[in-house]
Amino acid sequence: MPQPKIYVIHENEAWVEPLRAAFSEQQLPHEEWHLDRGVLDFSSAPPRGVFYNRMSASSHTRDHRYAAEYTSCVLPWLELHGRRVVNGSRALRLEINKIAQYAELSRHGIRVPRTLAAVGRENIVAAARQFKGSFITKHNRAGKGLGVRLFHSVDSLGNYVKSPVFEDSVDGVTLLQEYIQAPEPFITRVEFVGGRFLYAVRVDTSLGFELCPADVCEIGDAMCPVGEKPAATAPRFEVIEGFAHPIVERYQKVLAANDVEVAGVEFIADKAGELYTYDVNTNTNYNSAAEERAGKYGMRAVAAFLGREVQALGRIEAAAD
Ligand SMILES: Nc1ncnc2c1ncn2[C@@H]1O[C@H](COP(=O)(O)OP(=O)(O)O)[C@@H](O)[C@H]1O
Ligand SMILES: [Mg+2]
Repeated sequence: MPQPKIYVIHENEAWVEPLRAAFSEQQLPHEEWHLDRGVLDFSSAPPRGVFYNRMSASSHTRDHRYAAEYTSCVLPWLELHGRRVVNGSRALRLEINKIAQYAELSRHGIRVPRTLAAVGRENIVAAARQFKGSFITKHNRAGKGLGVRLFHSVDSLGNYVKSPVFEDSVDGVTLLQEYIQAPEPFITRVEFVGGRFLYAVRVDTSLGFELCPADVCEIGDAMCPVGEKPAATAPRFEVIEGFAHPIVERYQKVLAANDVEVAGVEFIADKAGELYTYDVNTNTNYNSAAEERAGKYGMRAVAAFLGREVQALGRIEAAAD
């Protein structure tokens, strides 16, 4: 029997590029399933292998409107057949629903910002009245900072919601969230591979809310069109040397309880030092400039993890022969 392969489920070529490079460095056999569209023969059996789901909450912004829905059909089929799936259907459920993330974080005693979920424009404005100070809006199915806007009054939100620039979340659910003011403009993203802590990265937020660490998304200044080289400013992403915090172990428990093995979890610390966790990215990307400086490489770690999994599968199959 030939060796089993690694299958990568995704919908964005650019984000898989660094993983491809890591696979070829480590000589790991792999195949990509671009699940933007396709046909699933539910009565068939999937190929042998290890499946790594990298479906993204923001897939609809790349004209792949139903990629996440299609993936939500493919993953249960793989699981039915007992295939080894890394970040399976439970991970996807979290990826596309921030409130579901907050439920899992809260269940494990992790503080999340005060949040209201509103459907319908009139309800978005009504929900905002619950906040005394500044608040932000964001999409429940998001990624890339979709719909993230800061408001200082209900009136200005009302004007925005009525205006043609208002953008509804693709799932129709807008979140209103207390604005966590950090003493310095940065957030922290904690990366996990194979369920284990890899590193934490500090992300400068002074340029805005679109914080995807993938190089293709990096913007040098607020107006820089996607695809251009970032300006030579201070690095927006910086791997934190020796990050250690009790939150890491709690995150690990949340991830383990949800069959999430690869993820980046984001928090903001306020001036009292309280941590607020607000985003679980089961489809995570890494910033190559920050990784170069630190000598730590997320996609190599992901490839090595998948490599170990596929080798383990090969051994099990050989023993069963
Ligand atoms: N409650 C909040 N208070 C302050 N800033 C926030 C808050 N929520 C999000 N942000 C900022 O917006 C960015 C994007 O929000 P996030 O919830 O991570 O959405 P996405 O899933 O689109 O990445 C965050 O990285 C952070 O800089
Ligand atoms: Mg985020």
